[in-house]
Amino acid sequence: MFSLAYTFSLLAIVFLILKIYTKVKTSWCKSKVCLIGKTVIVTGANTGIGYEASLEFAKRGARVILACRNEDKANHARDQIVKETENENIVVKLVNMASLSSVRKFAENILQTEERLDILVNNAGVGALRNKVTEDGLQVLMQVNYFGPVLLTILLIDLLKKSSPSRIINVSSVAASRSKLTQGNLNEFGGPFLCYCNSKLCNILFTMKLAKLLKTTNVSVFSLHPGVIYTQIFNSLQGISSIIVGYFAKYFFKTPEEGAQTIIHTALEQGIEVHSGKHFEECAITSTYGTAKDSILMDSIWNETMELLKCREIANNLVS
Ligand SMILES: NC(=O)c1ccc[n+]([C@@H]2O[C@H](COP(=O)([O-])OP(=O)(O)OC[C@H]3O[C@@H](n4cnc5c(N)ncnc54)[C@H](OP(=O)(O)O)[C@@H]3O)[C@@H](O)[C@H]2O)c1
Repeated sequence: MFSLAYTFSLLAIVFLILKIYTKVKTSWCKSKVCLIGKTVIVTGANTGIGYEASLEFAKRGARVILACRNEDKANHARDQIVKETENENIVVKLVNMASLSSVRKFAENILQTEERLDILVNNAGVGALRNKVTEDGLQVLMQVNYFGPVLLTILLIDLLKKSSPSRIINVSSVAASRSKLTQGNLNEFGGPFLCYCNSKLCNILFTMKLAKLLKTTNVSVFSLHPGVIYTQIFNSLQGISSIIVGYFAKYFFKTPEEGAQTIIHTALEQGIEVHSGKHFEECAITSTYGTAKDSILMDSIWNETMELLKCREIANNLVS
């Protein structure tokens, strides 16, 4: 009896310390930038950090396009954002990142209907999926987290250039540091966790490469690790890890609002344009992971990606 009470007290103290540590460590975006007249697209905006970032952009007066795959969830998020901000200029547009034709259709719609695009936040992502190849012949997790966002970005580059100064934000993860990506295994499975790590490293390599290609333009590109946040991304966990996260993580992981801060910072903070291509964490530039230091790997992943997406021609014209 005593030992049970003792164990629970000990656990409570550990969680309390972790919670205090998370609160102290979390940085908040301090930018006061107003977004009236600006247009922002956030993918995966119906929940998690994408929702919180969209809410903040809406508070600042932006036209916010919630790019989501589920109409009901997206409309619910839209209603919540409008209710909280009184900004009616919040639009739902459907896109499934696991389908290249859906991404193309979404981009076509944006190009036909939107006059400008100031900020593109590539946030939609999945944590762990089984070994499955999509109708496009790509690993589904890699497609949602990496190939889909790359295609979307490339198709929207002209609009971003036309609206410049503009920004592209790629939501990555510290998991990129555990990647085992090499030339030639880009579209291989290798297990759910490794696939996630590889996709998140690809987000960083893509950011670095794109920033180089766009250096003569006023379009800036940033990648970021948002922290460890209590969101639905952990719903796909199984076994003991699902129990730990399900029951305890909410007590010491970041909240989605805290987790959205580095997205908001990289999207809004003035003066960081000179750091295009850099990786951020806690609203500040962070040193690149060892896995993201290989420029030969960066170029080969870019070339392989352009071949797989069949968009070499568009990519060649990126700088013109
Ligand atoms: N949470 C963390 O600790 C953490 C840490 C590092 C990085 N990240 C990154 O942060 C980003 C956001 O994650 P989160 O934690 O906010 O997770 P979340 O709450 O699960 O949100 C993920 C969003 O992506 C959407 N999505 C998933 N598959 C999609 C598809 N095929 N097409 C379009 N949208 C799709 C989801 O839509 P549905 O609601 O319809 O599923 C949801 O809106 C991800 O890129 C993730 O890798 C998260």
